[in-house]
Amino acid sequence: MKAAQINHYKQTTLTLTDTPVPVVGAHDVLVKIMAASINPLDLKIMAGGIRPLLKYHMPLTLGNDFAGVITEVGAQVTAFKVGDAVYGRAPKDRIGTFAEFIAIDHTAIAFKPQNLTFTEAAAIPLVGLTSYQALHDIMQLQPGQKVFIPGGSGGIGSLAIQLAKHFGAFVTTTTSPQHFDLVRSLGADKIIDYHQQNFADVLTDYDAVLDTRGGQDLQAAFKIIKPGGHVVSIAGLPNARFGKSYGVPVWKQWLFALATRPLSRLEKQTHATYDFLFMHPSGQQLTILNELLAQGTLRPIIDRVMPLDQINDALQYSHSGHATGKIVIEVATTSADQNAH
Ligand SMILES: NC(=O)c1ccc[n+]([C@@H]2O[C@H](COP(=O)([O-])OP(=O)(O)OC[C@H]3O[C@@H](n4cnc5c(N)ncnc54)[C@H](OP(=O)(O)O)[C@@H]3O)[C@@H](O)[C@H]2O)c1
Repeated sequence: MKAAQINHYKQTTLTLTDTPVPVVGAHDVLVKIMAASINPLDLKIMAGGIRPLLKYHMPLTLGNDFAGVITEVGAQVTAFKVGDAVYGRAPKDRIGTFAEFIAIDHTAIAFKPQNLTFTEAAAIPLVGLTSYQALHDIMQLQPGQKVFIPGGSGGIGSLAIQLAKHFGAFVTTTTSPQHFDLVRSLGADKIIDYHQQNFADVLTDYDAVLDTRGGQDLQAAFKIIKPGGHVVSIAGLPNARFGKSYGVPVWKQWLFALATRPLSRLEKQTHATYDFLFMHPSGQQLTILNELLAQGTLRPIIDRVMPLDQINDALQYSHSGHATGKIVIEVATTSADQNAH
């Protein structure tokens, strides 16, 4: 099968190669991938930036989420059958959705939302699960609470705004003026042009921040957070608490603690909580999102759709940091995609 791979870290482009179709374990299904989405995580993995949390064997097929059709089921799998249309985020140690097939644990997948095409569905898993885990599982966002989600026009922002509105929150975001209409249509209540204003100069008393930026923006989040509030970062540094829950060795937890000392100080000064999130796959949570997608409460925002043989152009576009919503890679097209609505 065709697969887009790297042979070593710091390789800046993927190579399309012929590789064996993956072997299906007892709890796996084999999926013919119809579409996969680009995530900044792909670039971070290529650069070796995720090595403190995950080490991959080379050659490595990239790609973290997908939508496709089951072509084989493992001996222990009863929840799915051959022919089912499914979508999911691959478990972190067995990624590889920029390929024609993936063998994946059945607990990481859900039925594809019926009202979405494969291309649309592939835009959801990683950003949908990240948003759900941040806003629901960690922040436990309540109606009427104020949440700040910077980068509202990005892959995460465009989904997280919609989900935060579903939870009844007042949502503030940052973006460029050309995206104001988009983020307003997704439900943003207050919009800041990040080119003109620093959010920390104009916002106060926020219950929660979903930091999608890291660095200075993460530190500035503590200027707008209420006592008792929650700063959850997906782009900053993992702290010791995260390291412990993620199961990294104690010496690494120490390193994480050292690196996040400024954030720990800010937590104490502001009486707020800082958590780092590295999202996890969950077929169950995707099933929850399915209902919201079916109701139209959530919709995927797609910037562009590109074929697998243009994967490097797609990654380069993602690298620009200015995609509007998701970039989707079409791996296969069949009449099934047209019939998916
Ligand atoms: N830890 C996890 O589990 C996890 C999961 C998912 C994502 N992430 C991370 O979260 C981050 C965001 O991911 P993403 O998929 O949303 O990225 P993305 O789609 O590439 O974000 C692009 C968006 O960012 C906006 N942007 C650029 N500079 C900005 C600034 N200074 N202030 C506000 N917005 C700005 C752009 O808007 P303009 O076009 O207007 O500039 C664009 O719409 C990445 O670092 C990613 O790796 C982590």
